[in-house]
Amino acid sequence: MNIRFATDPLDKVAADVLVVAVGPTLDGPITALDARFEGGLLAELRARKFKGAEGSLVSFATLGRIPARHLFVVGTGGGTGFDAMRVVAARAGKEARTLGAGTVALSLPGVAPEIAVQLVESAASGNYLYQRYRPEEDRSNPVSEWIALGTAQTLAAVPEATLKAADVRVKWQGWSRDLVNAPAADLYPESLAARARELGALPGVTVEVWDFERCRAEGCVGIIAVGQGSQRPGCLIRVSYRPEGAKDHVAFVGKGVTFDSGGLSLKPSDGMMTMRCDMGGAATVLGATGIVAELGVPVAVDTFVPAVENMTGGLAYKLGDVLRYSNGVTVEIANTDAEGRLVLADALIRACKVQGVSTIVDAATLTGACVVALGDDYTGLFTNDDPLATELLGAATATGEGLWRLPLHAPYNEQLKSEFAQIKNVGSRYGGAITAGLFLKHFVADGMRWAHLDIAGPAFHDKGSVRYPAGATGEMVRSLASFVERRAG
Ligand code: BES
Ligand code: MN
Ligand code: ZN
Repeated sequence: MNIRFATDPLDKVAADVLVVAVGPTLDGPITALDARFEGGLLAELRARKFKGAEGSLVSFATLGRIPARHLFVVGTGGGTGFDAMRVVAARAGKEARTLGAGTVALSLPGVAPEIAVQLVESAASGNYLYQRYRPEEDRSNPVSEWIALGTAQTLAAVPEATLKAADVRVKWQGWSRDLVNAPAADLYPESLAARARELGALPGVTVEVWDFERCRAEGCVGIIAVGQGSQRPGCLIRVSYRPEGAKDHVAFVGKGVTFDSGGLSLKPSDGMMTMRCDMGGAATVLGATGIVAELGVPVAVDTFVPAVENMTGGLAYKLGDVLRYSNGVTVEIANTDAEGRLVLADALIRACKVQGVSTIVDAATLTGACVVALGDDYTGLFTNDDPLATELLGAATATGEGLWRLPLHAPYNEQLKSEFAQIKNVGSRYGGAITAGLFLKHFVADGMRWAHLDIAGPAFHDKGSVRYPAGATGEMVRSLASFVERRAG
């Protein structure tokens, strides 16, 4: 992420794309630029019914009228603050990728330099595109240089660390998205473990993988049950980051179901289509751990990823099976498609045993019910600790990502009652995101501060939206890293 500050007027800046934010009143810097188009710019915007709606975009080829080759007019929705500008930046970054723009100038008049860097971070994040299987001729390069135009002071006013942090955050978010977008044929438990081992190159980081037999020996009954229906052996991945002078110790747990067919409770084809995204939680916590370690944040982190493929092979686990977890809880399998919670349980039990851990946060594409409740833009937050909710909500807000608390309503435990075991792995149709959270709570040690993020909606978008192309979004990667940074004090 190469960034340069410049003060050139809009009609002088040389770039592949010039981005100008415009509100519903269609005034501001755009009016000065309009003179270079003999009034044609505003006339055209009106003709195209451009109303300045948040994230709406009109792209013009400038054909030599100004040095910038393309002009993006992006709607702010009337907001003038940071949040509106963040959407503008992300939207512009996304559109710049479809053009394959190399240099993009963002008009940021009077914006403080540190804010400008954060807006460029949003734009660079929006510039992501997964193209591994696109035909060569359709591929585009990411932006190589961002120009912050008209920012209040010079780049020298921004600490080097701020620039590096923005770059590192965008890089690991993209890394995480690449894993989620990868087809299940490429990304299966062992190859996910191989990608996780990349974190071992960072200072203070070690990576340990329990293979399927080791998981069996250690009593990871969820990983074994869900994983045994697949030819691809499951595993438990653990990434440990131990900085010098750690001020706190956090554990992450991420659902690593590299493909969810539903198992014998088979999903219909439509519901299965995008289930390569079911390791989104794993990619999220691994990406966040990458940011924390690369930035040298003084907080110890242990990240656990139970990785399995949920398939229907001859050994597949069956309805009515009962799992006996190492913490003593027995679980009757009432639906093999509620597999995520079963493998997360193994990891939560282990995370609780790590000496010194103050807080556990898990991330999982856990329930369709959470998507019904909150849609694609909000992650569901469940926690047994109010201050932890405040911390996580604060980190998400600061990152511009949607997070919304839902209740861990204890009376719904009734739905998890089983005739044959302590609990079963599904409740009724109603409150499904909550009963999934309550299920997980059975595997969190008493007194442990814990939060569960259900990212089933935001992790992966079937269709492109204002800020994201179709596919993985990397939502919560940067929010979770920011949460850890804030714990460093
Ligand atoms: N991986 C799915 C949840 C999911 C749904 C993720 C949509 C992303 C988008 C999970 O394993 C699942 O199948 N959940 C079931 C639970 C049910 C059987 C209680 C669901 O949501 O239908
Ligand atoms: Mn499932
Ligand atoms: Zn699943």
